[in-house]
Amino acid sequence: MNPWSPSSWRGKPIEQVPVYADKAALAEVERQLAGFPPLVFAGEARKLKRMLGKVAAGEAFLLQGGDCAESFTEHAADNIRDFFRVFLQMAVVTTFAAALPVVKLGRIAGQFAKPRSEPTEGIGGVELPSYRGDCVNDIAFEARAREPDPARQLMAYRQSAATLNLLRAFATGGYANLENAHGWMLGFIKDSPQSARYQELADRITETLGFMRAIGLDPEAHQELRQTDFYTSHEALLLGYEEALTRVDSTSGDHYATSGHMLWIGDRTRHPGHAHVEYARGVKNPLGIKCGPTLSQDELLRLIDILNPANEPGRLTLICRFGAGKAADRLPGLIRAVKREGRGVVWSCDPMHGNTVKAAGGYKTRPFDKIVSEIRTFFSIHRAEGTYAGGVHLEMTGKNVTECTGGARAISEADLHDRYHTYCDPRLNAEQAIEVAFLVAELLKAERIERGRADAAE
Ligand code: PEP
Ligand code: CO
Repeated sequence: MNPWSPSSWRGKPIEQVPVYADKAALAEVERQLAGFPPLVFAGEARKLKRMLGKVAAGEAFLLQGGDCAESFTEHAADNIRDFFRVFLQMAVVTTFAAALPVVKLGRIAGQFAKPRSEPTEGIGGVELPSYRGDCVNDIAFEARAREPDPARQLMAYRQSAATLNLLRAFATGGYANLENAHGWMLGFIKDSPQSARYQELADRITETLGFMRAIGLDPEAHQELRQTDFYTSHEALLLGYEEALTRVDSTSGDHYATSGHMLWIGDRTRHPGHAHVEYARGVKNPLGIKCGPTLSQDELLRLIDILNPANEPGRLTLICRFGAGKAADRLPGLIRAVKREGRGVVWSCDPMHGNTVKAAGGYKTRPFDKIVSEIRTFFSIHRAEGTYAGGVHLEMTGKNVTECTGGARAISEADLHDRYHTYCDPRLNAEQAIEVAFLVAELLKAERIERGRADAAE
């Protein structure tokens, strides 16, 4: 294989990237970014990789989620807090059921660039370039707004830094303390069908902490109870931006992407020999690959060879997004191919991207029952193949939006217009996200019980 450098992707075929009119302005932005501080550190990315290695071995579970696309206008502390709070609730629900550590990985603090199915978008006879995420162009349906503007990359960097700063404070500054499990209840979830289940769980945590205290263990002395590790991830689509934030780690001499802890390659750009795969192969961060229905077994094995030649545990997470109706047809073959070659990977289920439909009012939506169905199929296929369903990957928000139909509150197509706020794909609202967490918890618990039985029978 040819030598790698942070810019070696520039000589490869590339898809889904904007064409900037002012090349000098773009080069100046990339020059500035290259001089800015890293957003994350190599040691953190290594720690995440170690944790994902545990997931690959069946000793932890991966929870990955966040906006489809972050936006510049929705950058309020409340949004970040509400997202983080729901994420903590989901993590507690799954940790308790699985009795396993949960790796918390946000699609946040850098998720600003979007691949699109169509290069242009037409409304009322007017055709304009598609919106490609706030770090590329503006969502407003006007010709000027849709011009790619390199200065947006600087805004994306600064917003990522501010978001990450708040997340770090929440994760380590007391907010994530398990003593607060009751306090994480959201206003609008209080009267929802999920609230009683969550309240019951929070009661058990409070009881457990009380028990610890009674027998002389001080929860305050245990850092694990007071704070948590929270990691960031995004699609590595805008390679000029990624290149500018690639740094050599002084302790190992290796290159790391410092724009986020984990990067993933999208389903539309994951071609061996193409630019996105070329960039990703040289950075040592943990990587995700989106695996859609068109991914063949051979192509997947080639990608694994290129991206993880040393078969390092935790390096690769295969994020499967086939759609509820296609998973049973596509997934078993891929699992068998990976197993046959002895490749260690994390298998994660993205039940969102294969289940997008157009609702009557023109809104893109995802039926909750399809999301649930793909998750169930994913778990049952892994059980049948003797492999580990290691994670879920969700598009979700802490807000009470109406973007996905169904769920306990039975959001209908007619309700979608009410609070449809996403900048790209429809997200689970907080209540639906917690409902999914309870489902995953139930599936993990069933597995744990089955494993216990099998161990006892040996
Ligand atoms: C996404 O995760 O928002 C996305 C575009 O996914 P995919 O590449 O799987 O379509
Ligand atoms: Co999306």
